[in-house]
Amino acid sequence: MKLTIIGTGYVGLVTGTCFAEVGHQVICVDKDVAKVKLLQAGGMPIYEPGLEDLVKRNAAAGRLSFTSSTGEGVEKSDVIFIAVPTPPQPDGSVDLSFVESVSREIAQSMTGYKIVVDKSTVPVKTGDKVAETIKRYCKAKVEVDVVSNPEFLREGFAVEDFMKPDRVVIGVRSQRPVQAMKKIYEPFKAPVICTDINSAELIKHAANSFLALKISYINAISVVCEATGANVQELANGMGMYTRIGRRFLDAGLGFGGSCFPKDLSAFIKISEQVGYDFKLLKEVQRINADQMDRFVKKIIDTLWVLKDKTIGVLGLAFKQNTDDVRLSPAIDLCQRLLKEGARLRVHDPKAMPKARAILNDVEFVEDMDAVAEGCDALVIATEWPQFKKLDLERARRGLTHPIMFDGRNLFDRAEMEEMGFIYKSVGR
Ligand code: UDX
Repeated sequence: MKLTIIGTGYVGLVTGTCFAEVGHQVICVDKDVAKVKLLQAGGMPIYEPGLEDLVKRNAAAGRLSFTSSTGEGVEKSDVIFIAVPTPPQPDGSVDLSFVESVSREIAQSMTGYKIVVDKSTVPVKTGDKVAETIKRYCKAKVEVDVVSNPEFLREGFAVEDFMKPDRVVIGVRSQRPVQAMKKIYEPFKAPVICTDINSAELIKHAANSFLALKISYINAISVVCEATGANVQELANGMGMYTRIGRRFLDAGLGFGGSCFPKDLSAFIKISEQVGYDFKLLKEVQRINADQMDRFVKKIIDTLWVLKDKTIGVLGLAFKQNTDDVRLSPAIDLCQRLLKEGARLRVHDPKAMPKARAILNDVEFVEDMDAVAEGCDALVIATEWPQFKKLDLERARRGLTHPIMFDGRNLFDRAEMEEMGFIYKSVGR
């Protein structure tokens, strides 16, 4: 099918590329001309495992192209996906101005029937607004079907998640666009759940909030574990093997960050408030997440006493493994707090150092992870990168002025670390 994706961020670029990979003819539109030029020249604006090869292959095969003209994208395709940012506003509500302006642009270019699919994460009832806006600004008298099709991909696993979805959610007002939507997703061989538009929009916020709740739940349990000498990882395994619960999203640590969970949680609380429900449960999820970081910083201060003039090595800057994304990263938050206490920092991240340089001033970026600990008073693990498990621990121990490690992601075995001579402090163990 002929598809246009408006927005080439994480969601838009992955969506367009994966649709091309399964044989659709895809145009990706972005108003950022420099980004379009970069993509046309075979460059990548983001790091995402496997994506670069897919973009190159599909562009070379003529199935994937890039333009800054929305008009061209609308004219040449039957189905138009909106995948633009929906950033948070200071009060937690969602800024829908990009969705609104793209809806207007689509309307102004439409000369015949189109299906307009919203993939951006939006508050419930946005689909109605998009439909109204398109009708209002469309010059010609043409039909449009607005569809909600939320995206659930995780950064770092975006291609894998997109190619092998657990399910595809499609929210529609009538049956007319259903067949086309099913055809688009047919190659992915996943169950398709058809709902009304409002339910589809709510599924996204409800699902992400539930996952955030699961993380806060295990983080709250980690506090009880620390107070009682229990081990939160063993608890998570014991709980997680119960198929009704599941092991995923039960890793205690520094809490969740990134561009989705914090934003979606605030948005869902706000949406609920606007319809008259005080979602106290989700407010508590936010509080536990903030507390988790406070407690970790306190642990460092309690051990090192005064941080002024101390040097701390930090492994991890990205908000999680496998990404260069540092937006609302707990690791960056931690660095900023340590800096505020007067500490000097030596930091490393396998992918996120270029992006972190724009945020963190006066820290030393170290290219070799095994060299970070040298001359430091303590070493901190802030992101769950799997390669940190292969850290040269002997070298780290020798390099530290005192062999102290604060493991914010529970990557190492406590008994083994203590046997090696580390003063080892982790979360909930
Ligand atoms: C999330 C959702 O998983 C995805 O469905 C949605 O489309 C976008 O938001 P993402 O933000 O890419 O994806 O990351 P995810 O892997 O879900 O992790 C989010 C945060 O939670 C990270 O900071 C991670 O470190 C933290 N986390 C995750 C934990 O602290 N513990 C866990 O057990 C799992």
